[in-house]
Amino acid sequence: MFNKKIRPRRLRLNENIRALVRENILTVKDLVYPIFVVAGENIREEIPSMPNCYHLSVDNAVEIAKKISALGIPAVEIFGLPEYKDEIGSSAWDMSSPVQRAISAIKKAVPELLIISDVCLCQYTSHGHCGKLCGNYVDNDRTLELLQKAALSQAQAGADIIAPSDMMDGRIAAIREILDAENFSNVLIMSYAVKYASAFYGPFRDAADSSPKFGDRKQYQMDFANSREALKEVALDIDEGADIIMIKPAMAYLDIVTKVREKINLPVAVYNVSGEYAMVKAAAKNGWIDEKRIVLESLTSMKRAGADIIITYHALDVAEWL
Ligand code: PBG
Repeated sequence: MFNKKIRPRRLRLNENIRALVRENILTVKDLVYPIFVVAGENIREEIPSMPNCYHLSVDNAVEIAKKISALGIPAVEIFGLPEYKDEIGSSAWDMSSPVQRAISAIKKAVPELLIISDVCLCQYTSHGHCGKLCGNYVDNDRTLELLQKAALSQAQAGADIIAPSDMMDGRIAAIREILDAENFSNVLIMSYAVKYASAFYGPFRDAADSSPKFGDRKQYQMDFANSREALKEVALDIDEGADIIMIKPAMAYLDIVTKVREKINLPVAVYNVSGEYAMVKAAAKNGWIDEKRIVLESLTSMKRAGADIIITYHALDVAEWL
């Protein structure tokens, strides 16, 4: 029976009413912009599957960092392509690698901009897996000490937040321990706590040259059919000392974001990954969708689902639109 006294449409009459009752608002302060740094100078090469994202040498990374900060975006996340790769990924803790140099240079030029630094070995290992191999298996516990070295070197370079994306068991505890032991107790850990083995990382792997040379990552990244397992991963990482919990990818996983949000009282981040970005860019380029509206709707949905922080390649555009 239609009760004519109750008309939800009254709250949608015009933009000012809608604004007053709006439940979630996307702001520039929610955003993190990821960048890819490479060796060399004056390099700014567009990544083919990620339009308007670039491989940047350190000098150009500093220029982008200034722009990010001027737009009011609080943080940059740094990924790097090393100059050499080996079995254990030792360029991941080489202080002269592009990531470590970019961290120091950005910290110096734009000290207030938060630097989040991705800790993983897949960009640095010759086999493209996220850890040390024992035969064809990624050896969990031996990988932990390598992740510690990588995390420590990034903290020494000046990173504010360490973001481990490898999905080894126990890495948050291991990284917290080394950071504390070396007087970096104020460096935060944003854990990629819930990271699925996802086809949505495709363009990133091209950009970072980090595809596994054999097999896949299903023995360490999560099965996309699972959600209870996400809560288990989150609980473990909180126990081990994570400051911020990340869920990745974002768009196809908003149910997980809500579940996690309802269970925990730590900040929740989502990673709007490369494949999600590439699909939007491709459709927009064809004139099939309205890019700005699609992006604002998608990112607001991430907030509605429960995210506090959104890592997205759209961040620069969004900051200009807002
Ligand atoms: C490294 C890492 C990946 C991403 C972030 N860190 C790729 C992967 O796990 O294969 C993906 C980010 C994106 O797709 O935008 N392990």
